[in-house]
Amino acid sequence: MKKKTIDDINPQGKRVLVRVDFNVPLDDARNVTDDTRIRGALPTIQALTGKGARVILMSHLGRPKGKVNDEFRLKPAGDRLAELLGQPVQSLTECVGPAVKAAVDAMKDGDVILLENLRFHPEEEGNDEGFAKQLAELGDLYVNDAFGTAHRAHASTEGVTRYFDTNVAGYLMKKELDYLVSALENPARPFIAILGGLKISGKIDVIQNLLGKVDGILIGGAMAYTLLKVKGVDVGDSIVETEKLDVAENVIKAVQEKDVKFLLPCDHKAAAEVKDGVEPQVIGGENIPAGLKGIDIGPATIETYSKEIAAAKTIVWNGPMGVFEISAFAEGTMKIAQAVADSGAVSIVGGGDSVSAVQKAGVSDKITHISTGGGASLELLEGKELPGVAALTDL
Ligand code: 3PG
Repeated sequence: MKKKTIDDINPQGKRVLVRVDFNVPLDDARNVTDDTRIRGALPTIQALTGKGARVILMSHLGRPKGKVNDEFRLKPAGDRLAELLGQPVQSLTECVGPAVKAAVDAMKDGDVILLENLRFHPEEEGNDEGFAKQLAELGDLYVNDAFGTAHRAHASTEGVTRYFDTNVAGYLMKKELDYLVSALENPARPFIAILGGLKISGKIDVIQNLLGKVDGILIGGAMAYTLLKVKGVDVGDSIVETEKLDVAENVIKAVQEKDVKFLLPCDHKAAAEVKDGVEPQVIGGENIPAGLKGIDIGPATIETYSKEIAAAKTIVWNGPMGVFEISAFAEGTMKIAQAVADSGAVSIVGGGDSVSAVQKAGVSDKITHISTGGGASLELLEGKELPGVAALTDL
C-alpha cells in the first residue's frame, strides 16, 4: 500500500484520534451479535496502547440521521472492546464539546476512550469543517482504520484529515487495501470473480471494471435473470430489472468484445414462491417455465462453476448465488462457498451477504481475506477511489 501507516508515526504519550468502523449489529438487548469489525481493529488499538498512546476512538453506528437516538449509542461496542482488550474502555455520551475535552485531558498513556456515535450530529455526514476541526482538536495524531467507511467523505474520514500534517492508515485498513488492491492490480492467474445478489444495476460498474482485469466472471443470484433475459432465454416469472435491460445488453456486448469467460447459470432451482417450506423444482436447462421463479443455481451450474473455481488462483466473491437464507435455496451458495474454500486460491470475500454465506457454510477460516467493508469493497471493485483512503498521506 502506498500510504503511510501507524508504523510511520511515533505515538508515545500522544493523543491519537482513531477512526474505526464499529458499525456492528446489535440484538434487542443491545448486545453485539457480530464483533468482527471490533476484533479487526484490535491490532491497531493494541499497537497504539502498547506504545503508550492515549487512544481516542471514534465511529458511527447505524443511520440515526443526525439525531441523538439511544438505540444507536456506541457503549455496547465499547463494552465488547473492553472485554476483548482486557482493559477498561470509557464510552462517552458525546463526541465533541467540553465534557469530551475534559475526559481526553484526563487520559493517561495507554488509556482508551470511545466517543459517542458521530452520526448523532448531521455535521458528520455533511463533512462540516467546524465539526471536523472540533474532532481534530482532540488528537495530536490521526489514524484511519475504518475501511468499512472509507467510501464515505465524512468529517471523521475526510474533513478531519485537513487538520493534521500526517494522516496514516491503521493495520486493518492496510490489510484490506493490500488484499483488495493487489488482487486487482497483480493477481495470480487465473483470476475469477464470482458475482451474485439481487440487482444487476448494483453490479454493472463492478463488471465493467473487472472485464479488463479478470479471466472469468461467474454470475449467480437474481441479477443473472436480467442478463439471461437479454440473451433471449425464457426466465419465467424470475425477478428481472426491466428498466435495466439496455444496461444488461451493454454488459453482454462488452463481454463479447473481451477475452473473458462470462458464465451465466445453465440450470436452476425454481419455485412459484420464495418462502420457507416451499419445495423447489430443479429446472434442467436455461429456460424457466411461466409461473416459476429462478431462486438458486442448479446442479449443473454448481458443477461448472466449481471446476472454474478449482482451477483459479485468485478469486473475488461478492454476492450470493441464491436466497441462501432459506435452506431449500441455499445449496448453490453453500457449494460455491465450499468450492472457494477448497480451491487453495487467494480468496477474497466482500459484501455482507457473501460474508454471512461463508460463515453459514462454516468455511470462514479457509478464506484468505474476508472484508469488513461491504460498500467500500464494492466501490474498490468498481475501480473508484475511496475518499477515506485518498485523504491519507502518501508514502
Ligand atoms: C457499512 O456498514 O457498510 C459501513 O459502516 C458504512 O455504513 P453506511 O453505509 O451507513 O455509511
